[in-house]
Amino acid sequence: MSGGGEAAAIGAGQQPGDEAAAEQQQQQQADGEQKITPWDVTGGADGKVDYNKIVSDFGVSLLQQELVDRIERLTGRPAHPFLKRGIFFAHRDLGEVLDAYERGQPFYLYTGRGPSSEALHLGHLVPIMFTAWLQRAFNAPLVIQLTDDEKTLWRGLDQDEARRLARENAKDIIACGFDIGRTFIFSDFEYVGGPFYRHIVAIQRCVTMNQVRGIFGLTPEDNIGKIAFPAVQAAPSFPGCFPHIFGDRKDVKCLIPCAIDQDPYFRMTRDVAPRIGYDKPALIESRFFPALQGESGKMSASDANSAIFVNDTPKQIKDKINKHAFSGGGATLEEHRARGANLDVDVPWKYLNFFMEDDDKLAHIGREYGAGRMLTGEIKGELIRLLTDIVARHQAARAQVTDEVVDAFMAVRPMHEALATAGRRR
Ligand code: TYM
Ligand code: TRP
Repeated sequence: MSGGGEAAAIGAGQQPGDEAAAEQQQQQQADGEQKITPWDVTGGADGKVDYNKIVSDFGVSLLQQELVDRIERLTGRPAHPFLKRGIFFAHRDLGEVLDAYERGQPFYLYTGRGPSSEALHLGHLVPIMFTAWLQRAFNAPLVIQLTDDEKTLWRGLDQDEARRLARENAKDIIACGFDIGRTFIFSDFEYVGGPFYRHIVAIQRCVTMNQVRGIFGLTPEDNIGKIAFPAVQAAPSFPGCFPHIFGDRKDVKCLIPCAIDQDPYFRMTRDVAPRIGYDKPALIESRFFPALQGESGKMSASDANSAIFVNDTPKQIKDKINKHAFSGGGATLEEHRARGANLDVDVPWKYLNFFMEDDDKLAHIGREYGAGRMLTGEIKGELIRLLTDIVARHQAARAQVTDEVVDAFMAVRPMHEALATAGRRR
């Protein structure tokens, strides 16, 4: 592509809008008000993210046990630990997607990643691993959007760098085990055009400046790319963007797994859907994998000390956990033995809840550490072993993902077979 350098030079550097946003955020923090946007997650007055408040502010539904049971019945598989443990905790219209599946109608999955760092961190693995599980369990076609355009608009990333990171991130994603016969990965810079672009413009026509301001907090000082971008993330919710997969079918429902920070995009999308002749996309949404420093926010790629990346070395993992992982253990050994650890704020405990598969072992650790019989150093040791192993296995899988494999996942190709065999067999 030519002209990338020029556009990037214009896009680079501090945007006028950043200052206004930073000011607004400082104000909100001073008020002790929690702030959840696709770009910022800040806890409330007590420093923590209040998930009940998100549910009522955003108007999502809690994912009740009844729906988890239904997923188990329909797929004939035990629920993924992320479901059993309430890590995916909220949804919109999940029941309707399951109804369709039960009737034998196919649905497809849509998720994405904004390529802002060389490698994914453990928080990014949460929706990606869960999406891979959903794809296997439901035999569903899947599209994965890499929003390289978004990261040039918000982070001032050079366009060529954003495109490079998109391909690097695609390798981490592919390493999580997607079915190449059912998975289309695309970068916005490469794929926008044709039917996809026509959907973007149809969506843009339905959304006013005032709505974008209300939903995303964007202001007239923000660059106009940011104001137009939400339609780019909305569009893949509609099967018409992918004629090579769905032909001219408009009735294939879409289910979007993501963390709850992405919800504003899809509130907007659901509002527009009926006006352009589509079903509203359904969502299944997760909590945040917390920063090493604690539950005040999400693990973020822009702060290396807050995050464990899938390309970290064993030594880096060990040092980050030992030095930075916030501990709910007692201040002294006597105090710890007497009162036990506060599991509510303990980061190693929270991380084990995401990634330790063995329910019995996890419950045992919770009991022993909570009672003060197990020490902070010991639970950190458990976590270091577990994460070192997960990351090593990820790195081995990623090493198999060649450029040819990336090209194959990103090729615009017919996938009629994926659609024909999706949906429950009757
Ligand atoms: P991005 O790259 O910020 O995040 C990618 C996905 O990871 C989730 N996520 C987290 N989940 C748990 N704990 C965390 N600490 C954590 N941090 C991030 C995000 O919610 C997201 O699901 N604009 C998007 C890219 C995108 C997208 C989509 C995401 C485009 N289309 C459709 C989800 C669904 C972005 O920049 O994500
Ligand atoms: N083995 C799980 C899978 O393939 C991966 C996984 C991710 C997991 N996170 C987990 C398992 C947490 C247990 C607990 O989908």
